[in-house]
Amino acid sequence: MMRFRIAALAFASVALMPLSGQAAVDTGTLIKKGEYVARASDCMACHTGNDGTPYAGGYAISSPMGAIFATNISPSKSYGIGNWTETQFADAVRKGVSPNGHLYPAMPYTAYAGMSDADIHALYVYMMQGVKAVDRAPKIKTSLPFPFNQRLLMAGWNLMFAGGEPMDAAKTQPGGSQRGEYLVKVLEHCSTCHTPRNAMMAEQNSRFLTGADLGGWHAPNITSDPISGIGGWSREDLINYLRNGSAHGKSQAAGAMAEAVEHSLRFLDDADLAAIADYLKTVPAVRDPSQTEAGFATTNAKPVDIATFDKPIDRSPDAMRNGTSTNGQELYAGACASCHQLKGEGTQDQFYPSLTANTATGGVISENLVMAILHGIHRATNHDVVAMPAFADELNDAQIASVANYVFSNFGNAKLSVTEQQVTTLRNGTGHRPLLVTMAPVASIAGIIFVILIVVGSLFAFTRRKRA
Ligand code: HEC
Ligand code: HEC
Ligand code: HEC
Repeated sequence: MMRFRIAALAFASVALMPLSGQAAVDTGTLIKKGEYVARASDCMACHTGNDGTPYAGGYAISSPMGAIFATNISPSKSYGIGNWTETQFADAVRKGVSPNGHLYPAMPYTAYAGMSDADIHALYVYMMQGVKAVDRAPKIKTSLPFPFNQRLLMAGWNLMFAGGEPMDAAKTQPGGSQRGEYLVKVLEHCSTCHTPRNAMMAEQNSRFLTGADLGGWHAPNITSDPISGIGGWSREDLINYLRNGSAHGKSQAAGAMAEAVEHSLRFLDDADLAAIADYLKTVPAVRDPSQTEAGFATTNAKPVDIATFDKPIDRSPDAMRNGTSTNGQELYAGACASCHQLKGEGTQDQFYPSLTANTATGGVISENLVMAILHGIHRATNHDVVAMPAFADELNDAQIASVANYVFSNFGNAKLSVTEQQVTTLRNGTGHRPLLVTMAPVASIAGIIFVILIVVGSLFAFTRRKRA
């Protein structure tokens, strides 16, 4: 699927393919199918209410422009989408155009653009007939600062960055030749997190799945490169990781990836997980030139001599909060070793994983180790709950930097390190601001001119195409 559309094509794609015409299937089967599509597309990750009510809306998605709140998409006629036709629903999901105005791309319609007509139909039937109506509005509505509150600006953005045709239903249904590609690009929208964005906040298609920053975490390169990506993972590793969030001796899923596993990936059937794994192996390899060894290939650089742990500190919250030690080894012994073991090898069954041969400590990215220490890990799988405590309240930034540096230099990539300042930045969640936001005041005027130019430009392209 080509995501970057030139204006003319985006214009042409406005002529939607007819949505009706599917062969008669009984409603129960359609609802089941629609529910699976909803799981695979992870609609509940964002649309679940803050109290856990399905599709009630209210969950805040932080964007550099401010929080964007997911809406009530239950079939409530007053507060949800109960009155919507299938065409209106399809336009919202695939094009970001709702009867209430243009949507912000916090709703991943750029990925869903490729959703097949058959899946949209099943999803619609499920949303209308398989979901309970929630008759209340989310407490807070989105209100971004000017100019971002001008939803019409999104029309210009869409012309440049959104669009794309639905993928062919025959090839994308279970067992179809493009099933894996469809799951990765469209339903599971892996690239919304794993592909870096440009200054206009659109995914850079030339860097598809090469890794991107995400609210402090870094969604790693998952192209087929054996050093920077997943080329060195076996099919089994990938399937285990996607289903359970853990591939022993390689990686564990924390942050947003833990959520993707918990809410979506663990519900996929074996054939679909295998299709994703097989497709990832075909994604063109892109290597970070600064990387010479796979993140999971690190060996225990400086084997720890247990005798050097002369005074392990007490791992009670008070002892650490009041403790002034910034000795990485002491902190490691007090805060981490009870689970990951003094030599960092983890437990035998790897329920508490090894910190060597681990992409969070090897490789070229330091953020994920710091974020895991700050925020901990919580992930429900199909058979248990995986949890690592958060240390944000127990350790200060200097202590987190020193324990992280101890882990890097002893168990992971010894060339990695973090400063206290970097930990503070990650704690406060102030990452890089995209150009779009920094330039907001200029953009408010430029944006309008820009939109006019695009519309005029695309009309021009459109008429030329018609004449040709
Ligand atoms: C990553 C988060 C996220 C995911 C995943 C997601 N949505 Fe959304 N969705 C949003 C946000 C945020 C909005 C509101 C955007 C805005 O205000 O512009 C939204 C808006 C919508 C709307 C428009 C509602 C209205 O009243 O205008 C519909 C319909 C919708 N989503 C359906 C879905 C469906 C169906 C799925 C799964 C296929 C889904 N969404 C997955 C975040 C998400
Ligand atoms: C909501 C954002 C998000 C989505 C969607 C997402 N990921 Fe991730 N992914 C992440 C983050 C963040 C990490 C890093 C997690 C960590 O360090 O524990 C990650 C880690 C991974 C890893 C481990 C890589 C490594 O080197 O350790 C793999 C493999 C992966 N994701 C594959 C996928 C696939 C395949 C999809 C789609 C089916 C997907 N992800 C969807 C955010 C996401
Ligand atoms: C109570 C047990 C426990 C303690 C204490 C603990 N961890 Fe963990 N840690 C875990 C578990 C459980 C996981 C996730 C395992 C999984 O996903 O399968 C984990 C995962 C990790 C990961 C992988 C994160 C990622 O993004 O992939 C790193 C790195 C890590 N821990 C480092 C540390 C450090 C450093 C400390 C001390 C500051 C620490 N842990 C303390 C239990 C613990």
